[in-house]
Amino acid sequence: MKQVSPPREDPARETCSGAADANRRALVGGSVMGILASVIGSNGLGLAQAQTIAASGGPASDISDLWPEIDWIEDTTLRSQVIACWESAFRLSTLHPADLYNIPFSIKIPGCPVSFNAHKRCVAIVAYKSAKEMAGLFGAALPINLDVVLAGAILADVGKLLEYEMLNGKAVMSSHGRLVKHSVSGAHLALDAGLPDSVVHIVATHSGEGDLNERSTESWIVHHADFMCTDPFIAIAKKQLANR
Ligand SMILES: [Fe+2]
Repeated sequence: MKQVSPPREDPARETCSGAADANRRALVGGSVMGILASVIGSNGLGLAQAQTIAASGGPASDISDLWPEIDWIEDTTLRSQVIACWESAFRLSTLHPADLYNIPFSIKIPGCPVSFNAHKRCVAIVAYKSAKEMAGLFGAALPINLDVVLAGAILADVGKLLEYEMLNGKAVMSSHGRLVKHSVSGAHLALDAGLPDSVVHIVATHSGEGDLNERSTESWIVHHADFMCTDPFIAIAKKQLANR
């Protein structure tokens, strides 16, 4: 069975690995076919195969461990696409699934006390449960696609796998990330994985960069869930800095 991650002691983890670099260059180049060719070339594995493996419980088990909420997506095709997108991102990244339990959800918040995985799962759960309550109370007055909300929330930060890289065991901003925000690279990854435009839209607009766009209802929900789980930590960090 193909392993998603090299062993943790692999020195390639400390800097951009050659394959990850080549794949990232293909992404920066903006060529969808370039990315696919690069991924297939370096790993001998295409998205179609990744989706098959995902469906068979192969490498996708890492993704399912990271995201138990994927099972809440009712549309099985959408579920497979979400898994394939995360798999694809890990192949392009120097980060590995286990890293997401350890790195902070934001490297911009000093002393950030919550892991990437804990934060992103919380955002997805808050978005999904809020959407469910809203759908129940507003009914036809505000149509909401719960699958789209959840898929979008789970994928919102998938681009951070390219925005960050591991250096000496810590997540730092990558040279790619300094130029291409995760909302952009994430949307590109989502398109490549065949996700519907409604989900790609959420990935592209969930963050502050989306303020210039006309967000869908589903994107508004993910945007606010993300910020309600983020802004308190920023406020606390600012207070702590001011009190030093
Ligand atoms: Fe984000």
